[in-house]
Amino acid sequence: PHSETYKNAQLAREYVLANVPGELAKPRVAVVCGSGLGSLAENLFGPKFVIPYSDIPGFVACHIPGHASRLIFAFIGENKVPCMIFAGRFHSYEGHALDVVTFPQRFMKIMGVEVMIATNAAGGLNSNYKVGELMIIKDHINFPGLAGLNPLKGPNLDDFGTRFPPLSDAYDLELRKLVYKAATERDVHRTINEGCYAFVSGPSFETRAEARMLKLLGADCVGMSTVPEVIVARHCGIRVLAISLVTNNVVTEESPSALSTPDADTSIMSKGAANHKEVLEAGLAAAEDMRILVTTVINHL
Ligand code: 6GU
Repeated sequence: PHSETYKNAQLAREYVLANVPGELAKPRVAVVCGSGLGSLAENLFGPKFVIPYSDIPGFVACHIPGHASRLIFAFIGENKVPCMIFAGRFHSYEGHALDVVTFPQRFMKIMGVEVMIATNAAGGLNSNYKVGELMIIKDHINFPGLAGLNPLKGPNLDDFGTRFPPLSDAYDLELRKLVYKAATERDVHRTINEGCYAFVSGPSFETRAEARMLKLLGADCVGMSTVPEVIVARHCGIRVLAISLVTNNVVTEESPSALSTPDADTSIMSKGAANHKEVLEAGLAAAEDMRILVTTVINHL
């Protein structure tokens, strides 16, 4: 017998087939747009078809500023690759269970998607990273996962994959190479790093001590998304490319001492603190380069 998730993904697929015309309903690639990176989904050319998540069986609507919640079917690039673009994602910090957060990946699989390209906004931990730079994710640390919050926890969904999927090569090397190729080809001069993404649950940003810990453990960026989606995509055999936009530098210096800080100095505590506004602004500025890279990579698949 099939799992509930499989049945729900089939219902979602039937809804798409009944509503989306022809070849558009046969996506090969799925793109997931992160915070402030929704314009990936706005600047598409050619025919497209938009469905609010709330219309799709199995989906719940999401409500954070800067996050839309629509699924777009479109052809991307000169080669007209049929794609599904998720403008808005579900985060666990909103209170969604991880099977809700990762339902889009189950749905992608049932739709026949072979490659997922995920983008996100992340805080830079690596001291060499500057705001506005990109980081191709080559590895991750799943902090909540190590503590028992793995999206694959529970009975294995045999419809999709094996009980113990490996994640040592979760981030496809060929796809990562294509990003650099795309940057050369399209003259994108924004710095593109490759690094390790630490997933934390949020919604509060990290403390200084937590940020130092993550850095010490080898993380180059920290963020509140993507990793559960990557794990589920890999479980069902979807190839993964994930790119972070560094929207802010995480504060890692030790907190100032009450004894050694002059009374007059009130600015010192808030300096450098992360906020949602700067995350969205950095997203807006880099979204065009991100769009060029993603569409060029898709064109080469
Ligand atoms: Cl500084 N931390 C986390 N956890 N997520 C972020 C971020 C920081 N900046 C953007 N997203």
